[in-house]
Amino acid sequence: MEETALYKGFQLICPICGAGLEQNGKSLVCENHHGFDIARQGYIHLLPVQQKHSLSPGDTKEMLEARRRFLNAGKYQPICESVINAIRKYAPCAHPVLVDIGCGEGYYTSAFEQNCGAKCIGIDIAKDGAKMSCARSKNAVWLVATASQLPIADHSADIVTAMFSLLLQEEYARILKSGGCVVEVTVGSQHLIELKSIIYEEVFQQDKHPEPCGDCFDEVECTEYQYNITLDNDELKNLLLMTPHFWRIRQERREQLENTERLALTIHYWVRVLKKK
Ligand SMILES: C[S@@+](CC[C@H](N)C(=O)[O-])C[C@H]1O[C@@H](n2cnc3c(N)ncnc32)[C@H](O)[C@@H]1O
Repeated sequence: MEETALYKGFQLICPICGAGLEQNGKSLVCENHHGFDIARQGYIHLLPVQQKHSLSPGDTKEMLEARRRFLNAGKYQPICESVINAIRKYAPCAHPVLVDIGCGEGYYTSAFEQNCGAKCIGIDIAKDGAKMSCARSKNAVWLVATASQLPIADHSADIVTAMFSLLLQEEYARILKSGGCVVEVTVGSQHLIELKSIIYEEVFQQDKHPEPCGDCFDEVECTEYQYNITLDNDELKNLLLMTPHFWRIRQERREQLENTERLALTIHYWVRVLKKK
């Protein structure tokens, strides 16, 4: 990997051969002549067909649009703030290189850029996610790529965030500098419990404590948060559309929810910080 190959100051690598990528006009190219166009909106598609497991992987456009409407209404703002606080506390430098995995439509990534002085790369396997994210920030780099083979050079990131997303510890350790951190948000057992009670006959109270930390990391913080929100009918429909529950719901339960004017819900999640050894 050529250390000098940079795009907007980030060390991106070719998803085919691993060589450094640099800008050449409206494309990124590597020394082995693999080229990737920068889309009109600004995102870059770095997901070769052999890394795709379906025609349109990841969340659908409808899910992403519902997620955008829901998040813009501010109901998950406290989640965002708790992660901003963790990044400020654990970032190893004033302007950390932050990689947000499964960034969706870019709500959290752009908040980290604005509030943590971070230089951000948002990554999602869904092309519509990267496309929509471009409207959130022109400074961030938005990539269509897979979390399992990140097109990012070894030891080049300070923070990896995974907001309700995948935790692939070995791959995140590869791209992080020593002393860099993963900040992970996962749902707790009571998260949206009232909604699940309407959708499912029986709700299993699983212990959803985050999975164990591997050899590459030390767990430096694991904090549980809980608060309550009330959603109106439109917000409820957006929430349903952006979660996997929508795809499992039975017709009569869907009608019940469609006629629900307001619903009080529990928000329950964990913020965990893993520091690379
Ligand atoms: C539950 S959503 C969370 C989105 C965003 N972090 C948020 O909280 O608003 C998970 C996201 O991960 C993306 N995703 C799923 N598998 C992925 C993979 N292998 N690599 C990158 N992104 C992936 C989906 O397309 C989706 O946008």
